[in-house]
Amino acid sequence: MPRTAYVNGRYVAHGGAHVHIEDRGFQFADGVYEVVSVVDGVFADEDGHLARLSRSLNELDLPWPMHPMSLRFVMREVARRNRVRNGLVYVQITRGEAPRDFRFPADPVPTLVVTCRSTKFSAPQQLEKGVSVITIPDIRWARRDIKSVALLPQVLGKQRAAEAGAFEAWQVDPDGTVTEGCSSNAWIVTQEGVLVTRAASTRILNGITRLSLLAEAEAAGIPFEERAFTVEEAYAAREALISSASTFCVPVTRIDGKPVGDGVPGPLGRRLRQAYLAHVGVADPVIAPMVTKL
Ligand code: PDD
Repeated sequence: MPRTAYVNGRYVAHGGAHVHIEDRGFQFADGVYEVVSVVDGVFADEDGHLARLSRSLNELDLPWPMHPMSLRFVMREVARRNRVRNGLVYVQITRGEAPRDFRFPADPVPTLVVTCRSTKFSAPQQLEKGVSVITIPDIRWARRDIKSVALLPQVLGKQRAAEAGAFEAWQVDPDGTVTEGCSSNAWIVTQEGVLVTRAASTRILNGITRLSLLAEAEAAGIPFEERAFTVEEAYAAREALISSASTFCVPVTRIDGKPVGDGVPGPLGRRLRQAYLAHVGVADPVIAPMVTKL
């Protein structure tokens, strides 16, 4: 089935969809984005993603290209036209097309692109065995709280992870503390059973999944701390996890080749994943098909 994208007011064939060569997203990475998962037709944490989009736009002085309610409609329409019930919706907004000049154009007309594709989220094996991460220096700018399309450090980091046979790279600040993954937030569970993830600040992207997991941990009475943790602390953790819209919550069982705890996914990570999917109101799209097959 041919795919459809939404580009500046029109639903177009994905294969031929384009923006102008002088789009500021292309020339300056002058734009922001969101990724929202669709699980069994449910748009997971959509309010949170749109709230963060609004914040990112505001921080860059970018206008909304359309009313947020209309954007919700377009996201659904793109999912519907692509027949996606389990997948990811991608929304990108840039400062639009203008002759190349660092300063903002006088009357910017933002570019809005919405795409959607089916995905299986994670391989069942990733939940059964956990994933590996490597650690790399965090070489990003100082406003990581903005979900900017300027992702070159993350592209390089993910590539290094792939070459090392790892799923994700955890970025590390010069003081030895982990900031976050290249496209996910980083978590550990201490030997005392305390869930730890870095506090929201300009040093990390405040993940929407992260926020929901913290709310679920609080509701379940799971002790947690929002604070920086070092790589050494992560090596010594009982469990480790990553969270994002595209993975929800996946166990990390190796960091830089060293096993985390006893090297298998732990109970707290499993519990948090279940709590997250219950919060979205859906069955686990990775585990449910396996259960049905039994
Ligand atoms: N990335 N940190 C970074 C640097 C990210 O890029 C992401 C998400 C997260 C997790 O945020 P959330 O829970 O809101 O998805 C944390 C998306 C999935 C991406 O770029 O594909």
